[in-house]
Amino acid sequence: MPTVTFESSDGKLSKTVPAPDGGSVADLCDDHEAPIPFSCRSASCATCHIEVLEGQDAFQPPESEELDVLEAIDSAAPRFRLACCAKLKPGSAVVRVRAQNDY
Ligand code: FES
Repeated sequence: MPTVTFESSDGKLSKTVPAPDGGSVADLCDDHEAPIPFSCRSASCATCHIEVLEGQDAFQPPESEELDVLEAIDSAAPRFRLACCAKLKPGSAVVRVRAQNDY
């Protein structure tokens, strides 16, 4: 199963959690109170912008609405993602992401 470490933008908060079946990063954040900020939750505000520091291959490819927002903020997958859109593949992986905005 993937193991995901979420870090706050300043690196002071960190939480490592299992993701038994892969799935939605947003649900994982909600379930474990991860230090990643959210607002719209629908690929429009970029509040949930994250940098994938480790495990880029563990994510499913972004869909067009996520790619549009990333492009608008001069970011690119797979290094950067939106936590409200990103989904993990099932299987084993080590993932580490850092928030780009204050929690
Ligand atoms: S919470 Fe607004 S784009 Fe993800």
